[in-house]
Amino acid sequence: MRLMKTVLCLTALLLLPGLAQAKTVKVGVVLTYSGGAAQFGEQIERGMMLYMQQHEKDLGGHKIELIKRDSKRPGGDIAKNAVQELITREKVDILTGFVFSPNAMASAPLATQGKVPMIIMNAGTAWIPSLSPYIARVSFTMWQSGYLMGTYAAKTLGYKTAAMGYTDYPPGKDSVNSFKMGFEAAGGKVVDSIPMGGPREVPDFTPFFQRVKDAKPDAFYVFVPAGNHAAAVVKTYNDLGMKQAGVTLIGPGDITQDTQLQGMGDGAVGLVTMHHYSADSERPENKAFVAAWKKAYGDDTTPDFMGVQGYDGMAAIFHVIKTLDGNIDAEKAMAALKGWKFNSPRGPIMIDPDTRDIVQDEYVHEVVKEGGRLKNKEIGKVDQVKDPCKELKVGKCGE
Ligand code: PHB
Repeated sequence: MRLMKTVLCLTALLLLPGLAQAKTVKVGVVLTYSGGAAQFGEQIERGMMLYMQQHEKDLGGHKIELIKRDSKRPGGDIAKNAVQELITREKVDILTGFVFSPNAMASAPLATQGKVPMIIMNAGTAWIPSLSPYIARVSFTMWQSGYLMGTYAAKTLGYKTAAMGYTDYPPGKDSVNSFKMGFEAAGGKVVDSIPMGGPREVPDFTPFFQRVKDAKPDAFYVFVPAGNHAAAVVKTYNDLGMKQAGVTLIGPGDITQDTQLQGMGDGAVGLVTMHHYSADSERPENKAFVAAWKKAYGDDTTPDFMGVQGYDGMAAIFHVIKTLDGNIDAEKAMAALKGWKFNSPRGPIMIDPDTRDIVQDEYVHEVVKEGGRLKNKEIGKVDQVKDPCKELKVGKCGE
């Protein structure tokens, strides 16, 4: 009789979901935690942690262990070493993070060899997901903002000529190539294209901007990797009086990042950009997200596009853990990610099952001043944009 009871108890225990089989899923997080790009690591991590706090109970008893590594710079080598160690020594189930494209690119072959799903929370060069079958991206592709801004600049803003300036590394090249293609397909003409130094140091933009001012195109399309670079772009544009000289600064939303906006001052008013997120979006899902963010991190803080990407990336990780009931297998994880849909604070998003890249709404934003604050105000929207680089099969995107 006693034996019977013990057997029954054990069976009941095994049948209790989430108790007997609770797993700890190891997630390797590779972000910039120090140096000039530390603000990006902080944003993304705050987004991740917010989602975790809000949804911990939904994991059916499973736990997530975050193992964090600092990729420091955009160069690729430090991130690659970190990923190697996360896979071989820590035996992580999932890799995530990746602010800079070269860091994601250098790590991709290791994800393939180690068969570890890699969920990209920023790195935006269009062809990154084709580097490994285990990559899915929840952030953006440079072509989504660049190509659409090109079309919008010619068709809606009516610009005939544009110069382009870019930080000289893969996402910068993607951004200006896509702008040029969209702009010229819609009847505009690009008259100059200027590489403006690498991503690591913020350069003195003055000589590049002076060259554009002298050439006097209708518009100047600039890509820089957000952060301190963006603040310096808007400052230089104003210091040189380019607006008064008739040259209008436009770009992807990286140049009006929400966390940089207030520091840019009134000189930012009127800037028009294309992007997938603004902290000032009136969507109820976004208002709830921003309110929760301020409650967690302080009234004087705001999420920006990287924050929402961390949040959505963690939602994707939760989806994988729940779908696989904590038993992470790379093939099954990728199958779960393909076609995954989420009602993000930025709007509805989906992972394209064919490309493993994000499909999302793109917004036209104009910087306005309201109630003493600068805002990225939504003035237009393009629904459910797939990566134009892959749609049009351009260069490496067509391979
Ligand atoms: C990138 O390295 O892919 C990158 C970094 C920062 C951005 C955009 C793209 O704002």
